[in-house]
Amino acid sequence: MDKIKITGGRQLCGEVDISGAKNAALPLIASSILVKGKICFTNVPDLMDITSIRLLLEDLGATCKASKNYLEVDGSSINKIEAEYDLVRKMRASILVLCPLVARFGHAKVSLPGGCAIGARPVNMHLAGLEALGASIKIDHGYIEAKASRLIGNDIYFDMPTVTGTENLMMAASLAKGTSVLRNAAREPEIVALADALNKMGAKIKGAGTTIITIEGVKTLSPVDIKIIPDRIETGTFMVAAAATGGDILIKGCEPDHIGGIINKLKSTGTIVKSFTDSIRIISNKPIKSVDIKTLPYPGFPTDMQAQFMTLMTIANGNSVIHESIFENRFIHANELLRMGANISISSGNVAMVRGVKKLQAAQVMASDLRASASLVIAGLVADGTTIISRIYHMDRGYEAIEKKFSLLGAKIERIS
Ligand code: EPU
Repeated sequence: MDKIKITGGRQLCGEVDISGAKNAALPLIASSILVKGKICFTNVPDLMDITSIRLLLEDLGATCKASKNYLEVDGSSINKIEAEYDLVRKMRASILVLCPLVARFGHAKVSLPGGCAIGARPVNMHLAGLEALGASIKIDHGYIEAKASRLIGNDIYFDMPTVTGTENLMMAASLAKGTSVLRNAAREPEIVALADALNKMGAKIKGAGTTIITIEGVKTLSPVDIKIIPDRIETGTFMVAAAATGGDILIKGCEPDHIGGIINKLKSTGTIVKSFTDSIRIISNKPIKSVDIKTLPYPGFPTDMQAQFMTLMTIANGNSVIHESIFENRFIHANELLRMGANISISSGNVAMVRGVKKLQAAQVMASDLRASASLVIAGLVADGTTIISRIYHMDRGYEAIEKKFSLLGAKIERIS
């Protein structure tokens, strides 16, 4: 299995290009189930998760053609409504095929995603919403089976904002009869990107990006071309890496409007952040000041940046309180950072106190999930000596060519077997 080897201590300098967003690409690719015809996606990140959703669509019968950062999906040939365990277990976001299958074919059987390292991650709100649109739902032998001759528009209230739940139900309601209103909806840029694409296909969605989304159902949707928006979490990861290493980098092809929460916190650490139309410059030439963080649904500080910020706080001047409010078990990286000389104590499961230390020390560490692996890469970049990170298949799920991008910025980093 591949590992990442990093010799720390180099300041990052130069320019880096941001890839398309994994979490925007996954629902957009799933939305091609709704359409009879060919959808062409550009700026598609080259990631394991993208391969997983493509293989799932191919298993359903879709015709796909993939080349570098490009994917074509023709859903006309879909002839199967069952998403099997072996495909779904590799990626929880496979649940995103549930609503499009029911909306187009009136029937879906999707393996129930299990828990994952960061939390139990139930899908009850996806199912309650689909039921509210008139589907009958049965859980049987580990599979969700949903049926509805045609979905009927309704009011859906989410107990808490759910990103993929909002996306799934936006897709379902697009082909339902009548009007649906999603209340307490998630507001992430990925939801706006999906609504924009569905509207381009002929859907009638208003309010995406706010907590109330209104969807007037239509009978059919038509194929279009879709460009994936830039990855805001990859952008944030490079911002934090530059700040941690005392670097000066220009991050190109990003969307500064999508990362206000990250920019705000990074500025509070004393890092200089200059935003342009589609790029951001990070200059870090002073000691990092400690800041407190609480993860929240968008536009709050993203849970997907919590691990990377925790690494930054391990070398900050002073103490930082980090409160993870989205997932119940998203501090696994803290134990690995402790092995690198960080001073972190965790109380009540979801609050961590990070006391800044002068230096991290290189060690052999293990990635436990996607964003944890990014936090360990940043730790390796600043640590004294050579760090080896194992289980980097987690990182390959969501960061395109990360070691190449860091190398171009001057880091001593390589993939080893
Ligand atoms: N939740 C429920 N019931 C549901 C759905 C969610 O209780 O039916 C809970 C979750 O357990 C969690 C909270 O609601 O406590 C929010 O979860 P959400 O549904 O918003 O998460 P998700 O849609 O499963 C997406 C991203 C995650 C990201 C979260 C939060 C995708 C494919 N995944 O997950 O991305 O952390 O939103 O922003 O969009 C990552 O990229 O590393 C990643 C984990």
